[in-house]
Amino acid sequence: MRHNSDMADRPQIDAKLKQNIFQNIVHDAAVAYTLLDKSFRVVFANDHFLQSMKFDRCHLLGSKCYDILNGGLPCQSCVVRDAFEKGEPCTVLRKDIPMDGSHTYLEDLAIPIRDSKTGSIEYVLEIMIDRTAEMDMRERNFAVFRQIINSLMRLLEEKDYATCQHSRHVSTISAKLTRYLGLGPVAVFDATLGGLLHDLGKLYIPDAVLNKMGRLDDGEYAVIKEHPEFTWVVMSGMSTFKPLRDVAIAHHERWDGKGYPKGIAGEDIPIEARVTAIADTYDAMTSDRPYRSGVSHEAAMAEIKRVAGTQLDPRLVEKFVSMVEEYGYDRKSLVEDYDDDGELLVTAMDNVEAPYADEIAVHFHQPYTAAGGEGGGWVPDESTKNLLASDEFIDLVLNHTPVFYTMIDDAYNVLYVSDNFAAALGKTQGELLACKCFQMADQKEPCFTKEGGFALCPPARAFATGEKQRSLNEKEAPHGQRFYFDQFAIPTEMESPDGAKIKCCLEISFDITREKNRQQAFEQDIRHLVEKMRDMVEEILPDVSANAHHILHEVYRFCDYLGNIKVGSFEHFRDP
Ligand SMILES: [Fe+2]
Ligand SMILES: [Fe+2]
Repeated sequence: MRHNSDMADRPQIDAKLKQNIFQNIVHDAAVAYTLLDKSFRVVFANDHFLQSMKFDRCHLLGSKCYDILNGGLPCQSCVVRDAFEKGEPCTVLRKDIPMDGSHTYLEDLAIPIRDSKTGSIEYVLEIMIDRTAEMDMRERNFAVFRQIINSLMRLLEEKDYATCQHSRHVSTISAKLTRYLGLGPVAVFDATLGGLLHDLGKLYIPDAVLNKMGRLDDGEYAVIKEHPEFTWVVMSGMSTFKPLRDVAIAHHERWDGKGYPKGIAGEDIPIEARVTAIADTYDAMTSDRPYRSGVSHEAAMAEIKRVAGTQLDPRLVEKFVSMVEEYGYDRKSLVEDYDDDGELLVTAMDNVEAPYADEIAVHFHQPYTAAGGEGGGWVPDESTKNLLASDEFIDLVLNHTPVFYTMIDDAYNVLYVSDNFAAALGKTQGELLACKCFQMADQKEPCFTKEGGFALCPPARAFATGEKQRSLNEKEAPHGQRFYFDQFAIPTEMESPDGAKIKCCLEISFDITREKNRQQAFEQDIRHLVEKMRDMVEEILPDVSANAHHILHEVYRFCDYLGNIKVGSFEHFRDP
């Protein structure tokens, strides 16, 4: 629907409007932009980059980026180099640790810029978006998850100390073997946690069967064999940690298909579960039980070699044997794990990185080496000057990055919307230019007139205070899909065609939907685990209830902590 009466007064999307937005981006602090030439010299940097890295422009320009941040050595992982080499946009999630020891997570994107005549890549535009808030949230959720897993292990300990101790051993061996295999953080995480939780289902096995002295009869053995499926039940309904239950349920499957519960064979069994099966076999044989003593390390290794190819994956057994020989492990050093200070770790979990660790390139800043722009005498050459002054460069910054821009006037009319934002909302730029800002995502009511709307609507707050605002926004697209945006609202001014000043607000948004969905799934998994724990405490462990209830009480405390952070509309989530 067009608002013709308003339209007449509006500035059109012309070069002047774009220039105004671009100048705001150059001078304002929301996203860091730099432009680098083929020799990695910084030829352009906006204020946000200078402020966040604590550089002054005249010293920075003309310097090589790695002189500034990496002590004069090219960085190991470098998206700018990747973009020059591959000729396509490259991106990495970076954890930057400056020399003061603080940290910032940055989404780092490098876009190659080609010479329009020769087609060769002359520059790379580098964009850095602060992701510290979301990544710190992940870290916090992961810490809660660790605590819940440790509580689950304490419940298992309440039920049966030997099973709990065995689980810790299996976890430690699985961690060592997956690391030795070089499988990467996700597999290490799945095998370590899968190993830790593999016998969790034994919580549901009656004590009379679990702790029986002497041989089990067929009926009792059938009951014991149900434990992988009980583990599955506890962990079903989880999405983020689905691989853990897939590992746990398969630890009694055999390479030859004669295992349980499903009788799957060979590589149909997840590799982490095949690792766990070796660890499980080793520890079960070498542990003392009330009804028998454990066998020696040597005897267990001989038995593991004997069942390679029938019970266990022969290739993994070969690796297991060479790992044990290479590190000179005996039973004690194989089943135990120590931290850097030589303290015994309660579980290998304490020594395992989060499964998303391999998504992050850690970058320690090195001391600045004076080079290039030192003294501030650097002057760009003609072609750099031309590029920086061109509409093409402005267009690149405004439309060809993962950052969305809108400009509205103080009557909330949309004056500008970047192509990429329109596309994300499933509309055309033309359609959106005929709207008020709240109508862009088909919102019926304007947020700025709702009761308390002042506090909720970032542009309204920006207009009222004259200061930049930041918030987390939720928008529903026409087909019902939800988007989450990390949004800045920056008050500014424009000149209308008749020369009058118009109060405006530039909104800069980043789509953080993927991260928010991930966070919600994670929190749901944690709540699910807690519910299952409550069931266990109430139904399965009545005779140890005092301690078990104490553990559960602690778990509820973590969850209150989680529950306090909601994913919702217009939640203010971090001050810039
Ligand atoms: Fe088991
Ligand atoms: Fe086991």
